[in-house]
Amino acid sequence: MTAGTRGTAEDGFRGWREAAREALYGPDGFYRRPGAGPAGHFRTSVHASPLYARAVARLLGRVDEALGRPPALDFVDMAAGRGELVTGVLGALPTDVSARVRPCAVELAARPPGLDDRIVWRDEPPEGVTGMLFANEWLDNVPVDVAEVDASGTPRYVRVRADGAERLGEPVAGPDADWLDRWWPLPPEEGLRAEIGLPRDRAWTAAVGTLTRGAAVAVDYAHTAGARPPFGTLTAFREGRETAPVPDGSRDLTAHVALDACAAAPALPGARLLPQRDALRALGVAGGRPPLSLASSDPAGYVRALAAAGEAAELTAQGGLGDFGWLVQPVGVGDVLAA
Ligand SMILES: C[S@@+](CC[C@H](N)C(=O)[O-])C[C@H]1O[C@@H](n2cnc3c(N)ncnc32)[C@H](O)[C@@H]1O
Repeated sequence: MTAGTRGTAEDGFRGWREAAREALYGPDGFYRRPGAGPAGHFRTSVHASPLYARAVARLLGRVDEALGRPPALDFVDMAAGRGELVTGVLGALPTDVSARVRPCAVELAARPPGLDDRIVWRDEPPEGVTGMLFANEWLDNVPVDVAEVDASGTPRYVRVRADGAERLGEPVAGPDADWLDRWWPLPPEEGLRAEIGLPRDRAWTAAVGTLTRGAAVAVDYAHTAGARPPFGTLTAFREGRETAPVPDGSRDLTAHVALDACAAAPALPGARLLPQRDALRALGVAGGRPPLSLASSDPAGYVRALAAAGEAAELTAQGGLGDFGWLVQPVGVGDVLAA
């Protein structure tokens, strides 16, 4: 890539953040289109198994306990896709909780047909939440700018055209430069890249700020200081396949999340970062095989338990969904995962 000219919107080159925002969320953006939504292009934990929604429902139950069983308990499915998680959680709640829950899906795409009438559908999180906000694979889709080190060792913004061609622009400056220094310092080696996570820190802080009491949880592909990928992780998915990151509106654009930076941003006590496998185990999702003796005493039960064990194994797998990061932020309550 050649360093140099700043590039203007007229020449078709823009910063990655602006280009991705339009490609994903513009009037004809990838995520605004009707149809199957995210599930038509990639598989999240929500799609992988109903065990996931059941575990989230269990966590909501713990938040409910921590709040002293309020008369109205909010559950906000942040970046809800087609409402799959909130639907699964509603179906998994015990009746005493289900009678008090106020389910809300926050999503930029339109409300899908056939959704449970109890679910409120909005394009911004509600204020004054008492309960839990749960964001599965949201932050990786919050657009960010990309920095790349030029031949002189200076990190510059990467500018991109709608066909995916890139060139280097201005040196990274201001709060973006401060963020890189603090969270993802780039050695002066040509070609090293980083995604500037500041918009995600801000998005997470705003989401946490909607809670009066309860817990906010973000689950995503993540990395932490000391283990940042040297060339970043910006990539794309379309129809089940990973593909080149081109901001043309035809594909998902995603980059792993510096979840430790998000965790620190709201500056609230009690934030916990842990791998999905540990979080799900704490919520009773276990991948072990059922005992063979069950096969003779209850053959149908054995088959069901075997299928569930396979799904649990997928959700907690090394090198797969189990490596996802969970960021759990209590607001005015204790550690809800420790119960
Ligand atoms: C990767 S999908 C995840 C969907 C679902 N949570 C799941 O795990 O299956 C990301 C979703 O986030 C939505 N999204 C992104 N930014 C959003 C925002 N600021 N407010 C509401 N929804 C948003 C997108 O429209 C998209 O449906």
